[in-house]
Amino acid sequence: MNKPVDRITLRRPDDWHVHLRDGPMLQVVAGYTARQFARAIVMPNLTPPVTTAVAAAAYAARIRAALPPDSDFQPLMTCYLTDTLEADEVERGWQQGAWVAAKLYPAHATTNSAHGVTNLDAIAPVLERMQRIGMVLAVHGEVTDPAVDVFDREAVFIERSLIPLTERYPELKIVFEHITTAEAADFVLSRPHHLGATVTAHHLAINRNAMFQGGIRPHHYCLPVAKRERHRLALVKAATSGDARFFLGTDSAPHLARDKESACGCAGLFTAASAIELYAEIFDAAGAIDKFEAFASLNGPAFYGLPVNAGTVTLERSPSAVPARIDALDNYVVPFRAGESLSWRMA
Ligand code: DOR
Ligand code: ZN
Repeated sequence: MNKPVDRITLRRPDDWHVHLRDGPMLQVVAGYTARQFARAIVMPNLTPPVTTAVAAAAYAARIRAALPPDSDFQPLMTCYLTDTLEADEVERGWQQGAWVAAKLYPAHATTNSAHGVTNLDAIAPVLERMQRIGMVLAVHGEVTDPAVDVFDREAVFIERSLIPLTERYPELKIVFEHITTAEAADFVLSRPHHLGATVTAHHLAINRNAMFQGGIRPHHYCLPVAKRERHRLALVKAATSGDARFFLGTDSAPHLARDKESACGCAGLFTAASAIELYAEIFDAAGAIDKFEAFASLNGPAFYGLPVNAGTVTLERSPSAVPARIDALDNYVVPFRAGESLSWRMA
């Protein structure tokens, strides 16, 4: 048997899907992401959503202002697609560097998605333009049809929306965000070009039982919701395979504890405080730590057509503590695996 690896050095990683929020919450969380990642794709689901190049540039400036003074973290902004967004505005923002991708939220699929897209036909001119200019479409892949079981919404989205989308726009670069099912992993693998997927640390770590362990566990509730163990295993297999179509996207989505521990609790897990360590544990447990750099640092830039980061980070097998809670506003955020010890740390 091979001797276990106790230390690895990788190119500086990026987070290809994160929620940094705005205002006081942004001040609390920005430093956590910037400590671990060189860049991150920042989700635009603010209230109001980020739908103009001017709004994206202003949000990027607020993110930079919230970083520690020595940070060189680069936010990669996204625009929030609505039924009425003009193709010219999407292209203008892209040409100016205000954003690198557009985010498709099916209307009402998740947090702050009320302005999302009701019908793919409504955004046909935008999608055609994005295909032409090579701009990435990041997709929240769940149907919102209330008749569809919440655990089936991703698989049904593939049939109802993603297959038609890939057929209508065969050259469009699409990221199937935060995949949670074997069907999604298989679908990505069935497409040789232009389709990638992000995988979160929490969907690699837990299955749906975690939401009901001895009682209702609101801190394990997110969207798409965690699925059965067989799906988690399929995600681990895909993420740790080294296949270039899968890359790191935490979907770290902070909410105040009081908003999660509620009769109608918010969806989202906060993983940014320990993201790289959480993923390292998964890759290590799968015997695939040698594939971690591809997933965390190489596959994402290649898909987005961006350079790999300069510099490296070193991870070592050594305990690191997850904070029990993180003070925020007049309340706090409970991170994923709060108060626990992880077996890896960033050196
Ligand atoms: O769990 C989630 N939280 N899923 C999403 O798609 C949105 C996110 C949020 O913004 O809180
Ligand atoms: Zn998200």
